[in-house]
Amino acid sequence: MQKRSLFLTFEGMDGSGKTTQMRLLAERLRARGRDVLETAEPGGTRIGIEIRRILLDAANQELGPTAEMLLYFACRAQNLDEWITPALAEGKIVLSDRFTDSTLVYQGCGRGLGAEAVMTLDRIACRGLVPDLTLLIDIDAETSLARAHARNASQRHSETRMDEQSLAFHRQVYAAYHALAAREPHRFRIVDGRAAIDAIAAEIWKAVEPYV
Ligand code: TYD
Repeated sequence: MQKRSLFLTFEGMDGSGKTTQMRLLAERLRARGRDVLETAEPGGTRIGIEIRRILLDAANQELGPTAEMLLYFACRAQNLDEWITPALAEGKIVLSDRFTDSTLVYQGCGRGLGAEAVMTLDRIACRGLVPDLTLLIDIDAETSLARAHARNASQRHSETRMDEQSLAFHRQVYAAYHALAAREPHRFRIVDGRAAIDAIAAEIWKAVEPYV
C-alpha cells in the first residue's frame, strides 16, 4: 500500500537552527522507513540555486522589493514542478526549509508589499499546495542577527544581503511570524529555538509523529 504523502515546512528567523533540525527529522523519518525529499528555499533545484545566488548576493543592493518577491516565487514554482509535486504524488514526505510563509513575513511584511500580493503569487506558483504542518523554530530578532553575524564572520561568505537588513526589519519579521502562527494554530507548531538541539528535536518529533 502506498504511504500517505506529507508536506512539512520549517520556518524561523535566520540562524534559528531550522536547517539542522530538518536534517535530524529527515534521518528519523528515514529510520522509520519513509522516503523523504529534503529541499530548501531559496534553492533546491539547479535553477533555484542560480536564483538564490542573485537573491542573497550582498553585491545586488539595487534589487527592488517586487523583483525580489517574484524571484522567490520563481524559485518556488520551479521547486514545485521539478521536485515537490512529483515527490508528493509518489507518497513521499517532503521537508522544505522555508516556503510561502517566509515570503509572507519577509516580503509581505518586512518589505511592506502586503499579504494580498504574496498570496496572489502563491496561487499561481503553488496552486493550492499548503503545508500539512509548519514548524516555527522560534528565536527573537536580536538572537537571530547575532547568530547570523557570527556565522557570516566565521564563514566569510557573501550570501548576506538579507542578514544585512536592520534590526527593525528583523523585528517586523519576528512579529509577522507570530501573527501568522496565531492565525493558523492548527498548522503551526512553535518550538523554542533557544533550547538544546536534542530538546528541540524531541519537541519536533512529538509534533510530527502523529502524522507519520
Ligand atoms: P536561508 O538560506 O534559508 O537562510 P537561513 O539559513 O539564514 O534561514 O534563507 C535566506 C534568506 O532568504 C533569509 O534571510 C530569508 C530570506 N527569504 C525571504 O526573504 N523570502 C522568502 O520567500 C524566502 C524563502 C527566504
